[in-house]
Amino acid sequence: MITLHATTATLEEGKAPLKVVWVKQGELTPQGQVLDARLDGLLRQAMAQAGFKGEAGESLLLATSEGNFLLFGLGEDIRAAGGRLAQALAKLAFPEVLVEALEAYPLAEGLLLGAYRFDRYKGEKEDRALTLYLSGARPEDLERAKGVAAGVYWARDLVNEPPNVLTPEALAEAALSLRALGIEVEVLDEEAIEALGMGAFLAVAQGSHHPPRFIHLRYAPEGAQERLDLVGKGLTFDSGGYSLKPTESMATMKGDMAGGAAVLGALKSAALLGLPLEIGGYIAACENMVSGRAYRLGDVLKTLAGKTVEVMNTDAEGRLTLVDALAYAERQGARRILELSTLTGSAVVALGEEVAALFATEEAWGKQVEEAARRAGEKVWPLPLERAYREKLKSPVADLKNVGDRNGGAITAALFLAEFVTVPLVHLDIAGPAFTKKAHALGPEGGTGFGVRTVLEVARGLTDTTPA
Ligand code: BES
Ligand code: ZN
Ligand code: ZN
Repeated sequence: MITLHATTATLEEGKAPLKVVWVKQGELTPQGQVLDARLDGLLRQAMAQAGFKGEAGESLLLATSEGNFLLFGLGEDIRAAGGRLAQALAKLAFPEVLVEALEAYPLAEGLLLGAYRFDRYKGEKEDRALTLYLSGARPEDLERAKGVAAGVYWARDLVNEPPNVLTPEALAEAALSLRALGIEVEVLDEEAIEALGMGAFLAVAQGSHHPPRFIHLRYAPEGAQERLDLVGKGLTFDSGGYSLKPTESMATMKGDMAGGAAVLGALKSAALLGLPLEIGGYIAACENMVSGRAYRLGDVLKTLAGKTVEVMNTDAEGRLTLVDALAYAERQGARRILELSTLTGSAVVALGEEVAALFATEEAWGKQVEEAARRAGEKVWPLPLERAYREKLKSPVADLKNVGDRNGGAITAALFLAEFVTVPLVHLDIAGPAFTKKAHALGPEGGTGFGVRTVLEVARGLTDTTPA
């Protein structure tokens, strides 16, 4: 547990059992220099003696008669530096630490994200209470970082929860907790989903013992002028169905609801921060399983939008659930949609584990999301929505089939989604960055909460009234 407070005390004046001194390109910051002068150059001497260069994340702990100091390499990215510092501090036993805020917002966000742990199922918890005082920080910057981090934490938790615990019903229960923040939450059960005519979503769900849930969220603060609608993939587990995945690919498929988790996390943050726009959220939550009731290859499904789809691969299930959610969002009056999904392995082959693929049916909307992601520090890169590949989705018996061939798989998946929407759509394929197998500056292995920060920046961008 990490707690952040703003303070006006400088490194020299402040009283804390540990003070962090930033080192950038081998140099102390001006505040660090003042402190060093007070200590008769002790810090710089120690740096020289230890050959301390101050590279990103490099640290040197000094215990002196004047107190304890941690020299810490800043690097280029303040947010990442915060994450690394939080992880370094977690290994030291100081309950209270004073640190120069520099740019308080990204630093605070990095500190909070870097301190994230998922130890709910561990007998031994390593987490200690740590209070950080950020010298020179504006309290409002810390409040914003806390609001954003709360959403990212929640999205990570939901992804990290095992699939036997986080069933579609449990995901819906989690969504209902947002009512406490004033968000309207409606959960449709199997009967209601069927009555609506979401035949594609239902088909994916029908092989599971756990019934599906359709989650509809609405955050509508008074006086909102703008509106944003979010759709997230909500597969609480994807076995592949009869097009069964091999073990290695299936191992992380509890994370196949990461898009939905990002939608929930972003809505939570939006409400905590009181963002002044209306946000709709839609998650078709279900499990893709194998059983005597499961959908088959060759099945023809009727979607909510009316189009029929021939199933040629039961592992291309995400798009089937998503097109019904997209059609529903449009029925609810969505004017622009941002959709997030762990949709294809193809996107991971193209862009690797750290970069999400961005597809846009309208250039301006695509650029807005791209810019927002950059500001948020989340990596996305555009791929073309190449219409020439639409013919790969032609079916001899239905309006469409649910897969193309091996080539351009992320693109044909995006084209499939685009067939079901008329308003501007941005599709973020987050299959790579949603889940990580190795720890990084901003968090441990597992769910990353990818997308929450981008969505919040998009929302801020839509309501920002300050002239550029
Ligand atoms: N959930 C997977 C995509 C995925 C892959 C997410 C790797 C995270 C990491 C999706 O449902 C899927 O299985 N897609 C298939 C589509 C194919 C059958 C056209 C894929 O990418 O192999
Ligand atoms: Zn799949
Ligand atoms: Zn999937």
